[in-house]
Amino acid sequence: MIKRRLNSSNAALLFVVTLIWGGTQAQAHEGKDHAQDPEPNAWEEQERKLVEITADYQLAVAPLIQKACADCHSGDTQYPWYSMMPGISQWIRNDIEEARQHVEFSNGYPFQSHATPLEDLLAVEKVIKEGTMPPLRYRLMHSKARLNEQEKKRIIEWARRGQRMLMDAELARAAKQP
Ligand code: HEC
Repeated sequence: MIKRRLNSSNAALLFVVTLIWGGTQAQAHEGKDHAQDPEPNAWEEQERKLVEITADYQLAVAPLIQKACADCHSGDTQYPWYSMMPGISQWIRNDIEEARQHVEFSNGYPFQSHATPLEDLLAVEKVIKEGTMPPLRYRLMHSKARLNEQEKKRIIEWARRGQRMLMDAELARAAKQP
């Protein structure tokens, strides 16, 4: 499944990367016209970094997110048997709705969220490091979805590397601006 997504959605992924990045940059600049930006190469550099982080994500991290996070943070929920119990189904639906409002992992990185791609990396690192996601109530019921120490490390390393790359690109861009 992961493999298929890699092959079929590369073009779409690039498109999304460009769109999202464009959006966040426009915000950061409060509407400044990028057609007059003196350093278009710096923007391209940032886009290249995002594409690289996305590729790393697909290879090393996507299967872990699918396993531990997708039930709540994607449109791909596998409803558990106990979701049929009275009172529980509404609770689970609310959980999923709230989770998806925060961050949606369905379409890979950059994630769909209200934050920037960099902020999302910081948030993911934080919840994994602190062990707050997946929530305890979920871990108790879904032992197969638990992440072991090695898997956590893999997600954290990916997030940190991505943060460094985006911050470097951002610094390079700022340095080139008049
Ligand atoms: C049982 C459902 C559930 C699962 C599984 C789950 N989450 Fe969440 N997640 C939530 C809910 C609900 C919220 C919003 C409320 C909160 O922050 O507790 C949330 C919020 C978040 C946030 C935003 C936190 C912030 O400070 O803004 C991040 C990032 C996140 N989740 C990442 C993950 C990751 C990564 C995984 C898998 C390792 C995961 N979640 C698994 C339910 C879930």
